Amino acid sequence: MDYVKGKITKLLVGHFGNDFRRITHALEVMKHAENIMESVEGCDYDVLIAAALLHDVGIKPSEEMLGYNNGKTQEEYGPPVAGELMERIGFARDKTAKVCEIIGNHHSPSRYDYVELRVLKEADRIVNKLEGD
Ligand SMILES: [Fe+2]
Repeated sequence: MDYVKGKITKLLVGHFGNDFRRITHALEVMKHAENIMESVEGCDYDVLIAAALLHDVGIKPSEEMLGYNNGKTQEEYGPPVAGELMERIGFARDKTAKVCEIIGNHHSPSRYDYVELRVLKEADRIVNKLEGD
């Protein structure tokens, strides 16, 4: 997809609004994911960028509906939201499915042997550590 980074960033910003902490976190994760991607084979660029930018979108509905969020609720609430956002920009369906699987597995032991899942987890770990979480 052309301009995937710009298109998904717009979705990210639209979703989180003035929650600048979440927006900044996602952009940082994308930056680290892109760096890691240089040294691994077989990464789908669109899938990785979308997964990196949208991996935490479940935080918002989780907090709105439950009053809290954790890894489990992020995995539960994230994929439907991400799927709906990606549909809006005509993101390829097979790639959307893969991104949703990755988002639904980014806080638990990997159920999918996807290189993009491994890269996202590593990038998220680095950024969380830098942010002092
Ligand atoms: Fe994250």
